[in-house]
Amino acid sequence: MPTLIYLIISLINFSVFAHKCRIARHGDQTIADCTRLKLNFVPTGLPLSISGLDLSYNQISKLENNAFESFSNLTTLTMDSNNIDTIDGPAFKGLKRLRWLSMKHNQLNICSTIFDIVLKPLLHLQHLDIRYNINKTLDIQNQRFIPTLETILF
Ligand SMILES: *[C@@H]1O[C@H](CO)[C@@H](O)[C@H](O)[C@H]1NC(C)=O
Ligand SMILES: *[C@@H]1O[C@H](CO)[C@@H](O)[C@H](O)[C@H]1NC(C)=O
Repeated sequence: MPTLIYLIISLINFSVFAHKCRIARHGDQTIADCTRLKLNFVPTGLPLSISGLDLSYNQISKLENNAFESFSNLTTLTMDSNNIDTIDGPAFKGLKRLRWLSMKHNQLNICSTIFDIVLKPLLHLQHLDIRYNINKTLDIQNQRFIPTLETILF
């Protein structure tokens, strides 16, 4: 019995948590607005069909392996103004349709590893904003960027 009560409470917490993100539908696009929720990690329980995800103004410090893998239709990902200082190599694995990525105002060490490893799965990335991070050790002249990239704000 206590187990059941615990389970019910957990489920209630879970659904409340998932619903804190505001989910909006524009035509056939589903957008999750998870801004300003004091999140420490990428939330679970979001619709897998989302094409936009905004995690700005939270307290995320690390992007774990495969953090976005279920969101195969995501085209826009914004994580401005968090504390991101660590991105696991395969964190963006599976984001084959991502065109827009913004991570400005974080604690990233912008080095060639970001481009050579972390951003590599983003085969359709067009716009990248990584302004206002720490420590740029990237030789921008000699860097080989993702071929589809049209705008880089650095
Ligand atoms: C992604 O979009 C395609 C085509 O619109 C759809 O068939 C598929 O179910 C979507 N995937 C998810 C995870 O919603
Ligand atoms: C900045 O980059 C250099 C060279 O990679 C490294 O030695 C240094 O520790 C970095 N500083 C910070 C604050 O990450």
